[in-house]
Amino acid sequence: MTEIQTIGVVGAGAMGRGIAQIAAQAGLRVRLYDTSADAVAAARESLRQVWDKLAQKGKLTAADAQAALERVESATALTDMAACQLVVEAIVERLDVKRDLFAALEGVVADDCILASNTSSLSITAIAAACKLPQRVAGYHFFNPVALMKVVEVIDGLRSAPETGDALAELARRMGHTPVRAKDMPGFIVNHAGRGMNTEGLRVAQESVATFAQVDAIMREQAGFRMGPFELLDLTALDVSHPVMESIYRQFFDEPRFRPSPITTVRLAGGLIGRKAGEGFYKYVDGQKQVPA
Ligand code: NAI
Repeated sequence: MTEIQTIGVVGAGAMGRGIAQIAAQAGLRVRLYDTSADAVAAARESLRQVWDKLAQKGKLTAADAQAALERVESATALTDMAACQLVVEAIVERLDVKRDLFAALEGVVADDCILASNTSSLSITAIAAACKLPQRVAGYHFFNPVALMKVVEVIDGLRSAPETGDALAELARRMGHTPVRAKDMPGFIVNHAGRGMNTEGLRVAQESVATFAQVDAIMREQAGFRMGPFELLDLTALDVSHPVMESIYRQFFDEPRFRPSPITTVRLAGGLIGRKAGEGFYKYVDGQKQVPA
C-alpha cells in the first residue's frame, strides 16, 4: 500500500475539521470537501484560530501554525480527492447518503486508496457493500473533540482487508492517536458501552430519581468520567446524538438497554439540542455552562 501523504476529508463539520487538524499537524496534506462551501470556509477559519491560539500559548511556532493551515486545501468538488491515498468521510449519519458518497468516491480515487467512515453507529459492512472494492473500506471512528480525545476505533467490516485497518492504525499513531481495533457491531465499542450509560441516565432522570446535574455529578465525581452523560449529550448535540441512539437501538432489534427516551425526542423537537444552540440539558452563555439553580 502507498504511504499515506494526502488525505481527503469529506464533511467539514465538528468531526471533519478535527480530523483535518490532527492530519495537518502530523504533516499530511488535507483536502477538505463539503457540499456546503460555507462549511469548508468556516472549518478553515476555525482551524486558523485553533493554530493561532496554540502558537500564542507557545505550543506551536507561528511558522508551523501557518504551514499547517497551508496544508489544508479547500476542495470544491469530489473529484479533488483524486490524488488522495485515504479519504475519511464525516458527513451526516445516514446510511443511504454515506453509501452514495462511497460509491461516488470509488469513481474518483485510485484502486489502492482507502475509504474510511467516521460513522458512530452505522454498519461498515453495509457502507462497504456499495463499493466495488469493499476490502479497501473500514471504520475510523474518532471522538469529539478530535485533537483532545486521543483514541480512535478502527473497525473492520466483514469484507475489509486486514491491511486496510493496519494502515489506518499506523496512520493514527503518526497523528498521535491510539488505535483500538473493533468488530463491525452497532456502536462498535465506545457507543455500545457508552450509549447504554446515556440511556440509563435518561431513565434515572425520567423516573425523577435525580436531576440531570445530579446524574452528571455522580458520574464525574464518583465514577471518574470526565463528563456526565448529559454534559456529553450537550457537547455532541442531540441533532447528531439522537439519530445515533435510535440507530443503535434499532440495529439491536429494539434491545431495551439502548432504548432512547422521550426526554431527548422532545428536546430535539424543541431545538434544545445542546451547547451549540445555547441550551440543552444546561444553558450556555458564551459557550460556558451555567450552573443550574
Ligand atoms: P456535522 O453536522 O457537524 O457535520 C457534517 C457535515 O457534513 C456538514 O458540514 C454537512 O454540510 C456535510 N455533509 C452532509 N452531507 C454531505 C455529503 N453528502 N457530502 C459532503 N458533505 C456533506 O456532523 P459531525 O458531528 O461532524 O458528524 C459527522 C459524522 O461523524 C457523523 O457520521 C457522526 O455520527 C460522526 N461522529 C460524530 C461525533 C460527534 O461527537 N459529533 C463523534 C464521532 C463520530
